[in-house]
Amino acid sequence: MKTIAEIRNDFPILSAKVRGKELVYLDNGATVQKPSVVIEAINTYYTEYNSNIHRGVHHFSQVATTAYEEARGKLQDFINAPKLEEVIFTKGTTDSINLVASCFGRNSLNKGDEVIISAMEHHSNIVPWQMICDERDAVLKVIPINNKGELLMEEYEKMLSDKTKLVAIIHISNTLGTINPVKEKLIWPIKREL
Ligand SMILES: Cc1ncc(COP(=O)(O)O)c(C=O)c1O
Repeated sequence: MKTIAEIRNDFPILSAKVRGKELVYLDNGATVQKPSVVIEAINTYYTEYNSNIHRGVHHFSQVATTAYEEARGKLQDFINAPKLEEVIFTKGTTDSINLVASCFGRNSLNKGDEVIISAMEHHSNIVPWQMICDERDAVLKVIPINNKGELLMEEYEKMLSDKTKLVAIIHISNTLGTINPVKEKLIWPIKREL
């Protein structure tokens, strides 16, 4: 197990001083800092084999495709995904949520179905659901929060019904610091219904 100091050492940017103080960076939901291995891998890619993946037949394209697919496999192991195809690279969170909202929504949301989000979501987890609910005549419900920035779980439980088709909420809020009880209280009641 690495110490905090060793982990910090992996991230060159964390050696910067900000207003004379050691940097503590918490805005990972917006842009995550990169450790040296990632910076080096990006540098190697651009200096040694930058090219189009999956389409070119030339040498660089083959090398890039292999590296890209190896990264997918490593990620699959890291997040314990049952299938390799479940790991999909996108440009960021908004892009990912739009992809899920449009694929899932167009296949599975029908008139009167419900999607639940919460009052502590970033815009990128609000607008895609508003748009797809509008398009499919579905209803978007919002779990309210109290003045401590916590979800009102009793309100959430009242919202759940067989019309609920999807619950999309942040696990740990990067603005409030709230850790939502995703495993204990948000997934379990739905599994019980199935
Ligand atoms: C909590 C949270 N979710 C989503 C986003 C949007 O991320 P992206 O720029 O990857 O679309 C941000 C960006 O600030 C964010 O802070």
